[in-house]
Amino acid sequence: MGHWALVIGTPPHLLISLISPCLLVSPSPPLPMPPNPYAWINESLATIHRADWYRSVQTIHGRPGAMVIVDGREVINFASNDYLGLAGDDRLVEAGVAATKQFGTGSTGSRLLSGHRELHRELEQAIAELKQSEDALVFSSGYLANLGAITALVGKRDLILSDEYNHSSLKNGAILSGATVIEYPHCDVATLKNLLSQRQNYRRCLIITDSVFSMDGDLCPLPTLLNLAEEFSSMLLVDEAHATGVMGKTGAGCVEHFGCSDRQLIQVGTLSKALGSLGGYVAGSATLIDFLRNRAPSWIYTTALSPADTAAALAAIKIVQQEPQRRRQLWANVDELKKSMQLPNLKLLPSESPILCFQLPSAAAALEAGKQLKASGIFAPAIRPPTVPTSRIRICVMATHELVHIQKLVKALSSIYIYSD
Ligand SMILES: Cc1ncc(COP(=O)(O)O)c(C=O)c1O
Repeated sequence: MGHWALVIGTPPHLLISLISPCLLVSPSPPLPMPPNPYAWINESLATIHRADWYRSVQTIHGRPGAMVIVDGREVINFASNDYLGLAGDDRLVEAGVAATKQFGTGSTGSRLLSGHRELHRELEQAIAELKQSEDALVFSSGYLANLGAITALVGKRDLILSDEYNHSSLKNGAILSGATVIEYPHCDVATLKNLLSQRQNYRRCLIITDSVFSMDGDLCPLPTLLNLAEEFSSMLLVDEAHATGVMGKTGAGCVEHFGCSDRQLIQVGTLSKALGSLGGYVAGSATLIDFLRNRAPSWIYTTALSPADTAAALAAIKIVQQEPQRRRQLWANVDELKKSMQLPNLKLLPSESPILCFQLPSAAAALEAGKQLKASGIFAPAIRPPTVPTSRIRICVMATHELVHIQKLVKALSSIYIYSD
C-alpha cells in the first residue's frame, strides 16, 4: 500500500526514476558476478602501470619558492604555478596568521548559512576591481568555480562548445550541466563558427575555454571568440586560472591583455596560482553574480573559504596591483629562457605565457627526461596522457627565478638524452 501511495502521489518526473530500474534490464545475457567486486581496481592500476601513466606524489619540504627541497634534495623549482613567487611571501603568511587569530581556522558553514565574513566580501570587491568587472563571487577552489558557474548557466536544453584542450574542471562542469557538449579542435575558430550555426536548435549556448592553456602555454583567440559569441548570441566563459596576475598590464589576465575588459563575458579563475593562496572566483556583471549566489550548487552547498586563505588572497591582489615589477621580472625571465631555448634535442610547443612545454615521443620518454632533469637538480615533472594527448616536460617560469637558475635549466635540458631503438 505504501508503494502505491508513493506512486500515485509522485510527480511524473519522479515516476520515471521509480520505474527506470525495470526499463534498464538489458536484453543480453547477464554478466557473471565477480567474486570480489573490488578486484577490478587492481587490474586497472596494473593497466595504468603498463602504459607508463602511473602517478605518485613527491614530497616538497619547507616554504614554496624558486628553490625547493624534494625528497630530501634541494632542486630548482620549474614545476610550480606560483608565477609571482607569492605563496611563500611573508606578507601573505602574516595576513593568513592574523586572520586565523582573529576569525579562527574554519568558516564553519556555507556562505548562505554561518560562513560569510566581511573578509570574503572584501576579497570579492578586490577581485572585481582587478578584473574591472561589476562584481565577483569567491568559491572554495577554481575547480568548484567552474563546476558552479557552468551548471548554473546551462542545462538539458542548451549547448556547450568547448575547446578540446580545456582544463578538467571545464570539461566536468560541462558534463555535469546536462547540456549537449561539443568539443571543437584546439583554438579552431572556423570549426567553432560552423558549430555555432547549430545554436538555433538550443535554448542557450555557452562557449567555454581556458585563456592560457595550462598544459601547452598558448592563448585562446579571445577577441575572435568574443565576436563569435556576440554574432551567435552565445555566452562566453573564459578560465583565467593561469593568466590572473601574469597577463595584462595590471595583471588582470588575458581579458586585459587582449583589450577586452569592456566586453560582456564570464571570467573564472583561481586564487591558488599567481595569487599564492587557495580558492576560486567568478567575475562578471552584478546580475550574473547575484544569480550565481542563488543557483551555483558548488557555492551554495559547501563551506566558505577559510579566513586564512581569504586574507592571503586579498594580500596577494594588493601586491599584484602595487608591485608591477614582479610581473616585469617574470616576463624578463620568460624572454631569457626562450632566447636560450633553441635546443636541437627537444621540440618546444608554441607558447605566449610562462608555461613552456617540450614535446616527447612517449610517456616513458617524458618520465626519463623528468628523471634526468631531477638528477641535474631541476624539478620539472613529466606530463602524460590522459592529462594531455601527447607526453611532455612542462616548465613553469617564476618571477623569483634568478639568471643562474635559468642557465642551469637550459644546460640540463640540452643534455637530455632519450634512448630510442
Ligand atoms: C585552467 C585551470 N582551471 C581551473 C583550475 C582549478 O583551480 P584550483 O586549483 O583552484 O581548483 C586549474 C588548476 O589546476 C587550471 O589549471
